[in-house]
Amino acid sequence: MDVLRTEFTLNDMPIEVTLPVRATLADAIRSTGATGTRVGCEEGICGSCTVLLDGRPARACLMLAAQARGREIRTVEGLAAGGRLHPVQESFRRHRALQCGYCTPGFMMLAVGLLEREPNASPERVRAVLASNLCRCTGYAPIVDAVLAAQQALAGEVI
Ligand code: FES
Ligand code: FES
Repeated sequence: MDVLRTEFTLNDMPIEVTLPVRATLADAIRSTGATGTRVGCEEGICGSCTVLLDGRPARACLMLAAQARGREIRTVEGLAAGGRLHPVQESFRRHRALQCGYCTPGFMMLAVGLLEREPNASPERVRAVLASNLCRCTGYAPIVDAVLAAQQALAGEVI
């Protein structure tokens, strides 16, 4: 089997992996032990594999590991800092925005990517962006509530 060696930054840590040439970025991330990035449909539809690629949400199942060379990847493992949950994580917890949790890391990375780049996104914009990911359990309203509350928290208001 042809193998590929590639390097990228994962949650501020330099990473080097050797994988089959056709391995995806999701495969590469999970091979490091960072299994918070979920793989659902593997064809770009569900969004459960969403990570931040140089600060922008990306479907890790649609990229080859080779395409991540030299890029900066952030996953759900990189959100909490100093023993504290990220405001998006805390807000998901408070608003019960998850049930089985399979989709949750992807939704969180989608939300973080949005709120970092568009801190003043309107509720309509937040809903439109969240519509790109699928959840089988929550009915979406708690997820939208959680992200809007996290937006306020990041702006210095209470969750
Ligand atoms: S697993 Fe990547 S979009 Fe569904
Ligand atoms: S919480 Fe179960 S799929 Fe979203």
